[in-house]
Parts: sequence; C-alpha cells; structure tokens
Amino acid sequence: MTQSTPLADAAISIRGVRKTYSVEGSVSASKTAGKSSSKSELKSSGRVVEALRGVELEIQEPGFYAVMGRSGSGKSTLLHLLAGLDRPDTGEIIVGGSAVHSMKESELVKYRRREIGVIFQQYNLLPTLDALANTILPGVLDGRPTKELEARGREILGELGLSDRLHHRPEALSGGEQQRVAIARALFFAPPVILADEPTGNLDSTSSAALWRLLEETAAQRKMIVLMVTHEAIAASHCQRTFILKDGRVAGEFESHGLDPSQLAHRSSELARTA
Ligand SMILES: Nc1ncnc2c1ncn2[C@@H]1O[C@H](COP(=O)(O)OP(=O)(O)O)[C@@H](O)[C@H]1O
Ligand SMILES: [Mg+2]
Repeated sequence: MTQSTPLADAAISIRGVRKTYSVEGSVSASKTAGKSSSKSELKSSGRVVEALRGVELEIQEPGFYAVMGRSGSGKSTLLHLLAGLDRPDTGEIIVGGSAVHSMKESELVKYRRREIGVIFQQYNLLPTLDALANTILPGVLDGRPTKELEARGREILGELGLSDRLHHRPEALSGGEQQRVAIARALFFAPPVILADEPTGNLDSTSSAALWRLLEETAAQRKMIVLMVTHEAIAASHCQRTFILKDGRVAGEFESHGLDPSQLAHRSSELARTA
C-alpha cells in the first residue's frame, strides 16, 4: 500500500480499458477419428471476442454502486479485471490508489488478499472449514498468528449476526448465512473496495433483501466502495448510483437510490438499448 497516492483509499478509476479473449475453438481437441467437425465448431475456431471496448468509469466516494447490463455485456469481465484476476489489454485500472493494471504477479497476489474483497454467486467457501476458519482464511494465507486472526474473525462474524454459527460448516448453513460468511471473509482485511458478482443469484427473495441491506449498511458504516453486478432492479434501488454496461462500454449512469424498481428497470433498459 503506497502512502503517496493522490486518490482517496475508497476510489476506483477505470480509463480506456479494453479486453479481448481469443477463443481457440475446440476443433482439433474435439475431433475424433472418423468424425468431421460441425459448422459451428469451425466457425468458433480462432474467433476473437471483444469483451470490453474502452470502459470509462469513475467512483470517488464510498458507497454502494451497481453495474447492470444484458448478459454478455462485459460485467463479469470488468469485475475480474478490478479484482486483479485478469489483466486488461490496454487502459488503466486504479483501485484505492493502486495501479492494478501494471502490478507484477507477486503484487497482484497481495492486492487480491488485502486490498480487495470479492463475493461471488457461488459463495466459494471451503466445505471442510467452519465459518470462523473460512472467514480468517485470507489471514492464514498471509501467515499471521492464529489467535489474533480468530479474535478478528469472531468480531466480524458477530457484526454480521453470525456469532452462534462460528463452528458450522457451510453445509450446515443456509444460503443467506453462507453468503454472510463470504462477506465476512471479504471484509477480513478491511479493504477499501468490495466487488460482488450477482451475490444474491442463489438466494430466495427474503435473504436477498437482507443481503442488499447488509451491503448498503456495510458501505456506509465502513466508508468503503461496494460495487455489485446485478440484473435485479430492486437490488440497484439500494445503490446510490447505477452504471449500465452495453457491448463492453459504459452506456450511461444514473442516481438510483430509492428509485421505484420498475422505473429503474425501464431506465436501464432504455440506456442498454439506445446508447
Ligand atoms: N474466458 C473467456 N474466454 C472467452 N470469452 C469470454 C471469456 N470470458 C468472457 N468471455 C466473453 O466475453 C463477453 C463478456 O462476458 P462477461 O463479462 O461474462 O459478460 P456478463 O457478465 O455481462 O454476462 C461474452 O461474449 C463472453 O462470452
Ligand atoms: Mg456475468
């Protein structure tokens, strides 16, 4: 973590980010003796997919933000790049003062562990570890003393209402509880930014509503940025601002907190269509 950054800790700046995937195609791999490849297989061979085509996005204030857009518009790709799980072809990604796009692999490992929290739809908890052990995992990987880690783990799990679930394994927790453990783990090093990709995709509507409120409160109380990909307008209505991705670019953004979900859905589909 650099001290000399002009950016606030909780800030994201994305400039001119492009990302293409070359899809090798599975022709030779799937071709078995005596069988000819189908037309669609041949077509997809050596194809290039432009997932992001010059994304510009600025967030300067802590808060809860949404990214919406049709399937394939580049939402997950953008989150992966922000999380340091992949690199942009060109462009700049600055998160909490760190230039993620130019980090060396060893720096990215530390960045992913300490400076960013990530929550996925599938919770990604280790099935053999209990809630506390899953929560403190980033600290264990960082080689910190277990006692200190456990105290911190209990504290966060308590704040998320899971004090009586410390020693439950994921299979003994509800989906909503598993997702709260994933949030606890993401919060472990108190990062300035949390990224969430469709975090309520596997939850019922009651647990989803509880999770959005929790993310909203978390962003406000801890003064961090929570950036969430969602396709649900009701989720975005908990967010202060919503960015619309279309064909790998930000097609527009608007204030979304407290908007009527049907109004919000209309607004986002207008932007996704016309911009
Ligand atoms: N690893 C990958 N290899 C090849 N193509 C990919 C890969 N990841 C994403 N894509 C393609 O990039 C585009 C954007 O994908 P994605 O970011 O997952 O969209 P979204 O999350 O908005 O549905 C899609 O056309 C998708 O098929
Ligand atoms: Mg996606």
